[in-house]
Amino acid sequence: MIARGIMLGPDQPVILHLLDIEPAAESLNGVKMELVDAAFPLLKGVVATTDVVEACKGVNVAVMVGGFPRKEGMERKDVMSKNVSIYKAQASALEKYAAEDCKVLVVANPANTNALILKEFAPSIPEKNITCLTRLDHNRALGQISERLKEHVSDVKNAIIWGNHSSTQYPDVNHATVTTSGGEKPVRKLVADDQWLNTEFITTVQQRGAAIIKARKLSSALSAASAACDHIRDWVLGTPKGTWVSMGVYSDGSYGIQPGLIYSFPVTCEKGQWSIVQGLKIDEFSRAKMDATAKELIDEKSLAYSCLD
Ligand code: LMR
Repeated sequence: MIARGIMLGPDQPVILHLLDIEPAAESLNGVKMELVDAAFPLLKGVVATTDVVEACKGVNVAVMVGGFPRKEGMERKDVMSKNVSIYKAQASALEKYAAEDCKVLVVANPANTNALILKEFAPSIPEKNITCLTRLDHNRALGQISERLKEHVSDVKNAIIWGNHSSTQYPDVNHATVTTSGGEKPVRKLVADDQWLNTEFITTVQQRGAAIIKARKLSSALSAASAACDHIRDWVLGTPKGTWVSMGVYSDGSYGIQPGLIYSFPVTCEKGQWSIVQGLKIDEFSRAKMDATAKELIDEKSLAYSCLD
């Protein structure tokens, strides 16, 4: 997708740096061979390596997809501890070798907290440049509304994912709209079923990652890759006028969310900078859900920091 221009646009040549672990070196080289064989006009080079320093050298965009999966019998703290050490090492390499204005997108779970650890060990990368992926959840919310209303997904916009990329996330459609032949209409009005929107819709989006794993016996791949491209593209090239998207970003205290967490907010992007959409009305139902997912992130943060000791 990146080599085809889906992430950075059809006029932007790219050099891909691919990092994998030593046991996957041969297979990584196979991927490099295929990239060469595909003769992508935009692809100006491929660096396939198991050396984190070589991988990070001069990169402008870092998509962090590597993480340690939870295995049978492992406690949450064991997984966190493995991921903390992976992110510590990669952050230190990005800190030293990436381009000064490098934009970072953390995809691997626990994505928000991995991003926080990365920020800790890459202090010279501006806070605003370290984000995590909740666009996948955002797109899932749009997809569910589109299916329910039998409207095209590109006509549905301005859903919000608040909080953690986990089952406590809060998919909120209170400000979402659908463009119909009769103009732009609120999703709540068109769906006309608050019961569904406040229960099944929310749990379907929250549990979608688990549902994909159950169906495929593998984690989401195509939709996650596509969402990562959407995230970077909108961040670099801007969001369309009147549209916001969800990104896990460093909280500045907006909407009463504790500063210093990486929390998913509605954002607009312009000239390579995101800004949190301000002034949205938050009702009591939303407030409780936004606080519950913030609470989980606070707990994850202290667990992650305890692994650093
Ligand atoms: C997803 O949302 O599809 C993934 O984060 C699920 C997972 O745990 O890999």
